[in-house]
Amino acid sequence: MNTKIWNLQQDITQEDNTYIYNEIKNIFENGGLVAIPTETVYGLGGDARNEAAIKKIYSAKGRPSDNPLIVHIHDIKQLECFTQHITQEVKTLMQRFWPGPISFILPLKKGYLCESVSGGLSSIAVRMPSHPVGRKVLKFVDLPIAAPSANLSGRPSPTQFEHVYNDLNQRIDGIIDGDQSEEGLESTVLDCTQYPFKIARPGSITKTMIESVLPDSISSVEDLNHEKPIAPGMKYKHYAPDTPITIVQSIYKRPSSEKNWQDTAFIFPKNKRDLVPKEAIFMPLCENEKDIKGANRHLYQVLHDIDQNNHINHAYIFGFENNDDTTAIMNRMLKAANYTVVKGEEL
Ligand code: TXA
Ligand code: MG
Repeated sequence: MNTKIWNLQQDITQEDNTYIYNEIKNIFENGGLVAIPTETVYGLGGDARNEAAIKKIYSAKGRPSDNPLIVHIHDIKQLECFTQHITQEVKTLMQRFWPGPISFILPLKKGYLCESVSGGLSSIAVRMPSHPVGRKVLKFVDLPIAAPSANLSGRPSPTQFEHVYNDLNQRIDGIIDGDQSEEGLESTVLDCTQYPFKIARPGSITKTMIESVLPDSISSVEDLNHEKPIAPGMKYKHYAPDTPITIVQSIYKRPSSEKNWQDTAFIFPKNKRDLVPKEAIFMPLCENEKDIKGANRHLYQVLHDIDQNNHINHAYIFGFENNDDTTAIMNRMLKAANYTVVKGEEL
C-alpha cells in the first residue's frame, strides 16, 4: 500500500491546506487509516463507526483485538451519540482539562460505534486532543476517530513523524507530519464508570491535578507492579525497545571504570553527566532531576534512538524519585525496562 505523507508542521493559515484536509476527510469517510499528530503521541486514526476501518487498525498495528481503542472528538456534543448520561463530576473535569492529555472511560451507549472499537466492553474511552493540527483534522472530518498510538504493537509510542513512518509506512493510507509531540507520553486514562474514579493509566494530568478540581475523587492509581491489569492494554508487553534497559535508582557516584562500558548508553539528566562513565554513551533525557516535563517529552525519542544506534547493546536509565509528577514516566520506564531496577552502587 502506498502511504501518502503530508507535511503540516507549518500549518498556520486556514485556507492554504484545505485540499489536504479534504483528502484526509475522504480517506476517513472511505474506511481508510491516517496517522495524526496529537500533543501526547501520534495516533493511528480510523472512523470509529466503521467495522472494516477498525479491523484495519488492529491488523496494521498487530494489536490484539480485545484491547479497546480511544475515540477522539473535537466537541463534547459528539458524545451524545455513543455515551450514556454524563455526570456533573465528569463534565467538570472535561471542562477543566479538555482539550488536553486525558481520556475518560465512560459507559457506552450501544449502536452508534462499531463493536470492535470497545473490544466488546460496555464502556468507551474518549479524548479531545489539543494539538492544533490534530484538532483541526478532527473538526474538519467531524467523525468520532478511533486512534491508538501509531506504532507497531509492543514498540515505543511515536512522538515524531519519523517514528510513525518507520513502523507503519506501506501499512496505512497516510501520515501527517505535525512536528514533535509536546507532551510525549500517552494520555492519563481515568475510569469514570464508578465513583470514586480510578486512574487506569497515569499520564501528565496527575491525581493531584484532578483532585484539585474534585477533592477525593480518585480511589486508586494503577498499581505499577500489580499482576492484574485495570486497563486491558496493561496486560500486554508495552513500550519496549529492542535494546535491554535497566533503571538505576539512587546513584550518587560514577560507576567504576574497570568495566567495559563502550556498548552501554546512560540515559540521564544533563546535570548528572558526571555520574556517567567516560567510555559510555551519554544520552540526555532532560535538563535535571526536576525537569519531568522534559523527561516525558524525550523518553520515547531516546528509546527509539537507542534502537537505531548499532553501538548500543544495553542502556541504563535514570530512575526518578517517586512522587505525583513522576508516576507516569516511572510507569513507562518500568515497562520499557521489564521491571529491572538496580541501585547505583550495584553498577
Ligand atoms: O495519548 C493517548 O491516549 C494516545 C493518543 C493517540 O491519543 N492514544 C493511546 O491509545 O495511547 P492506546 O490504544 O495505545 O492506549 C489506550 C489505552 C489502552 O491501555 C487500553 O487498554 C485502554 O486505554 N482503554 C481503552 N478503552 C478502554 C476501556 N473501555 N476500558 C478500559 N481501558 C480502556
Ligand atoms: Mg499504545
